[in-house]
Amino acid sequence: MSDKNSPPPDFYTGAPLEPDDLWFRDEFIQDLQKSLCNEHVILSAPRRTGKTSIMDYLVEHPPTDFAPLSVFVQDITHPADFILLLLDLFQEKYPKRFKEMFEGTKSWIGKALGKVNEIDVQGFKITLREQEDNWDDEWKKYGDEFFAQARKDKHRLLLLVDEFPDMILNISKQHPELVLPFLSWFRGHRLKPRPKLDPVRWLLCGSVNLSSTLDMLGCLDKINDLQDIPLPPLDESEVIEFVHEMLVGRGVEMDEKVPGLVAEELGRPVPIFLQMVTQDLYRNWKKHQKQLDATDVTQAFSDLVVTSGARDKLQHYYSRIDQYYQPPKRAAAYSLLAKISISPKPTERDLLYAEFVRILIGEGDVSPADKRKQLFNQLMRDLENDFYVVEMEGESFDFASGLVKRWWRKYYA
Ligand SMILES: Nc1ncnc2c1ncn2[C@@H]1O[C@H](COP(=O)(O)OP(=O)(O)O)[C@@H](O)[C@H]1O
Ligand SMILES: [Mg+2]
Repeated sequence: MSDKNSPPPDFYTGAPLEPDDLWFRDEFIQDLQKSLCNEHVILSAPRRTGKTSIMDYLVEHPPTDFAPLSVFVQDITHPADFILLLLDLFQEKYPKRFKEMFEGTKSWIGKALGKVNEIDVQGFKITLREQEDNWDDEWKKYGDEFFAQARKDKHRLLLLVDEFPDMILNISKQHPELVLPFLSWFRGHRLKPRPKLDPVRWLLCGSVNLSSTLDMLGCLDKINDLQDIPLPPLDESEVIEFVHEMLVGRGVEMDEKVPGLVAEELGRPVPIFLQMVTQDLYRNWKKHQKQLDATDVTQAFSDLVVTSGARDKLQHYYSRIDQYYQPPKRAAAYSLLAKISISPKPTERDLLYAEFVRILIGEGDVSPADKRKQLFNQLMRDLENDFYVVEMEGESFDFASGLVKRWWRKYYA
């Protein structure tokens, strides 16, 4: 983060942060860099909490001796496309090294690299793709070759894969028979050689929790070698510091309670909403030039749930249930969240369970009581892992984010 004497960083309301503008992540990044020296890591956190920003930071400041390469795989639906993308990006970012590794060799990749005219006209990826009649089956061969060569190189390679779980979910939808072969192959590459001795290192990032999906597909053990590092949520004092620095640094006058009130309203802070609310407060001050107080904070939050910028970010919380939760959990999740959203206090577990059973019966479910209980516990765990709710003292649940709760109540309760 920038130092105290420079002007405050810009507001960011969606784009990944420039590495110098990252707040409160110094220690986390240092730990992550250390872990990456010895292990492959999966970094999980909800959307809009700063994963991509951290990856961008690592690309600029990789752990010692690592050359970084970042790949965004959210829309990839086949392992072959993943390997093609890796090769293409590596060739584009490190052309000289790539040549040294493969040019003139009898390898498959070397053969494609020799087709200079084709590469000039259509690019490396298409040249590679056209070289094989059946990429859908040959991707392993190219992947093996690439990693074998990368391991001989004098530099270590850090591969940062953004939205990895989405790729697995896409594969599981479009080519379910490939999930297990791909995950097994990938796991094999992470275990041999042992991570500490492997010059190729993986940092996988994701906004959806992979465990329950892999559990469903029976392949949970295929990622248990990865070190799972959660991105810690910002704490209250950080929220207060952010609001204070961003506003006071811009000459805003405010009641000293304002930063604390923002922290209170936000609940578990999703960084993007913190940015949006603070920016709204700043604009409000600029417009009226009147000292900010508690009313302005309440107003900023009410404004936020109806602005279009926030709406599509919030909408995602709603639609991802449709995408990732299978019936009957889907209908139950919507209904339980609606119930929690209208209660000013946390909602008791027993009440939620009663509602859950009512929904199951409505859906024609005839499972025995112990099965229902199990499904309910699973659903609450998913909602917790996916950052919708938190369990509070006294066996009760509330929304993790105050803003999401407010929004849910307004549109879906
Ligand atoms: N460390 C941080 N400090 C302040 N705001 C942040 C931070 N990390 C993320 N944000 C906010 O979250 C938004 C999205 O960041 P991004 O890195 O793209 O998150 P993700 O990849 O988790 O979706 C940014 O535009 C910014 O508003
Ligand atoms: Mg991201």
